[in-house]
Amino acid sequence: MKKIGFLGCGKIGKALLNYVIAIDDARVAFIQDPLFPAEEASCPVIRQTDSQFYRKADLIVECATADVLKANISTILDSCDLLMFSVTAFSDESFERQVLELCKRHGRHIYLPHGAILGLDGLCDARPLLREVRVTTTKNPKSLGLSDGKRTVVYEGPTRGACQKFPRNVNVHATVALAGIGFAKTFSRIISDPMVATNSHLIEAIGDGVQFSIQVESTAGEGVTGAFTPVSACASLDRVLEKKRAYLFV
Ligand SMILES: NC(=O)c1ccc[n+]([C@@H]2O[C@H](COP(=O)([O-])OP(=O)(O)OC[C@H]3O[C@@H](n4cnc5c(N)ncnc54)[C@H](O)[C@@H]3O)[C@@H](O)[C@H]2O)c1
Repeated sequence: MKKIGFLGCGKIGKALLNYVIAIDDARVAFIQDPLFPAEEASCPVIRQTDSQFYRKADLIVECATADVLKANISTILDSCDLLMFSVTAFSDESFERQVLELCKRHGRHIYLPHGAILGLDGLCDARPLLREVRVTTTKNPKSLGLSDGKRTVVYEGPTRGACQKFPRNVNVHATVALAGIGFAKTFSRIISDPMVATNSHLIEAIGDGVQFSIQVESTAGEGVTGAFTPVSACASLDRVLEKKRAYLFV
């Protein structure tokens, strides 16, 4: 039975925590979160990194922020594998190099959930053929921490710059860049629109002999995470745990 540690337990973390509590294939080793109410947990809750807890886990599920992921990466990969949601951290080239070196040194794996991006496997498979990948996201200004009164293009350019400008809001762009042709070649467009109540993403990929587009829309709700991500996160965890379903989509 896999022992799972949670680094950050807000909207996505709580959905995964409740899921792990309900299944038989895993148990919660600890929760690290400065704000999680300890009285609501039936496992240790820690407020700061303590490597003793990490050493007892088989998998860390990170659902905090890119900065928190960066600050804890050595402790995590020193101890176990990682399923992480703050993908914008990878727009920092020196962080990506550090991660690759740590994985090689300790023989670890990092799992990249698709989040809201249907078809990420196809994008990854098409990588050798791809010439152009564009991601256009439209969100309400509140979801971007902005206060625009009318539809405004707030960023256009390489995905690396989008991640640096909106580290909490463009994990979709970071995930597409990592799966596809990288942070320098992927093109990001971010639109702030006070008339929308959804997070919508259009991914367009063009390559030698192949062309496709993916359109995803989910209700925004409170915070930075749309309605689809917490649900898809549980299915991603299933795949990491190799939980057997009757049908396997590969
Ligand atoms: N990969 C994707 O597709 C995708 C989609 C949506 C959101 N995200 C990202 O996933 C992460 C979590 O999203 P969320 O909606 O659950 O956010 P959230 O704000 O609801 O939860 C974040 C949690 O992290 C905790 N935290 C803050 N500092 C911490 C620290 N030093 N140590 C441990 N915990 C700490 C907070 O107390 C909070 O409970 C964010 O980085 C978000 O941008 C990724």
